[in-house]
Amino acid sequence: TGKEASFGQSSHKGIVLAVEEINAAGGVLGRKIELITEDNQTRPGESATAVKKLIARDKVVALLGEVASGRSLEAAPVAQAYKIPMIAPAATNPKVTQTGSYIFRVCFIDPFQGTVMAKFAQTDLHAKKVAVISSVSNAYSVGLAKYFRDTFAAAGGDVAIEQKYSEGDKDFRAQLTAVKAADVDAVFVPGYYTEAALIVRQARDLGIKVPFFGGDGWVADQLLEIGGDALNGCYYSTHFSPENRDPAVQEFVKRFKARWGIENPDAFAALGYDAAKVLADAIKRAGSTAGPKLRDALAATRNFSGVTGVTNI
Ligand code: PHE
Repeated sequence: TGKEASFGQSSHKGIVLAVEEINAAGGVLGRKIELITEDNQTRPGESATAVKKLIARDKVVALLGEVASGRSLEAAPVAQAYKIPMIAPAATNPKVTQTGSYIFRVCFIDPFQGTVMAKFAQTDLHAKKVAVISSVSNAYSVGLAKYFRDTFAAAGGDVAIEQKYSEGDKDFRAQLTAVKAADVDAVFVPGYYTEAALIVRQARDLGIKVPFFGGDGWVADQLLEIGGDALNGCYYSTHFSPENRDPAVQEFVKRFKARWGIENPDAFAALGYDAAKVLADAIKRAGSTAGPKLRDALAATRNFSGVTGVTNI
C-alpha cells in the first residue's frame, strides 16, 4: 500500500502466480512453498522492520523484495546480517547488491538503463540539448540521472539544465518554468510514475511541447491515469513487454490473466514471477534451504530463461 503501491502489488501478483505454479508441480525438495507477505506501506524505515519480522518471527528461508531500490537498500543489510538470501526483483540501483553477498536481483541495472536512454534520446529523438528533472530523495532517481548524463554528455550531447524535486512533491511549475526557458529538445525524468505523470501534465499546461522520457519508474497503469493525453509522444524503458511473441511470455500473459483477471501484466509482475522461479530453481540445485547453501546456488544461476529474458546472477 501507500505512495508506490502499484510496484508492490504488481510484483506480488507475479510472485503468487509463480509460487502456485511451483506448488502445483510438486513444490521444491518434496515440500510446498509457503508465501508470507508483509506490507511496508511505501514508508521509509518500514522495510527493515518487515524483514526483521519475517526472519525472526516467521523464519523465512529467503526474501523476495523489496521491489524498488531505496527500500531494498533499507532491507538488504538486515538480510545480509542474518544470512538470509534476498532477491530484489526490480531494484536497478547498483548499490543494492553491493550491500553484500546474500543480496541479488533479476533485472538490469541503472548504468545499462541510463546508457540505453541516452542513446535513445540521441538516435531516436534526435535530441542535442536536454533537461533532466530528478528526485533528490530517491536513490534510484539520483543514480539514473547520473548514468544518463554521463553517457549523453560523453557522446557530445548537452545537458543544458538540471532541476530537482523531492518524493511526494506535487507542484513542479518552478522547475518547469526554468526548463521552458532553456529551450531543450527533450526532457529526461528519471523518477517514479507518481511525480513523473504530474510533471508531464504541468509541463503541457505551461506550453512545453517536447518529448519527456523516463526509466522503469514510469511503469504503472496510474501513469496514464494521472498523466492522460499529456503523455502522448513520451517514452520509457522497461523490463518486459506483454507484446513479446516469445511463447513463454505469451503463456505467462495467459496464465496471469486467468489468475488475476488483468489483461496485461506489467514489468513488476513479470520480474516478481521470475524472481520466485529463480529462487525455486536455486533451492532445488542447493538441495537445501540453509542460507549459505542457498546463497551459493543463487550466485551460480546461469542462463535462467524467464519471462523478462535470460538471467545470469
Ligand atoms: N527500478 C527502479 C528502482 O529500483 C524503479 C522501480 C522499482 C520501478 C520498482 C518500478 C518498480 O527503484
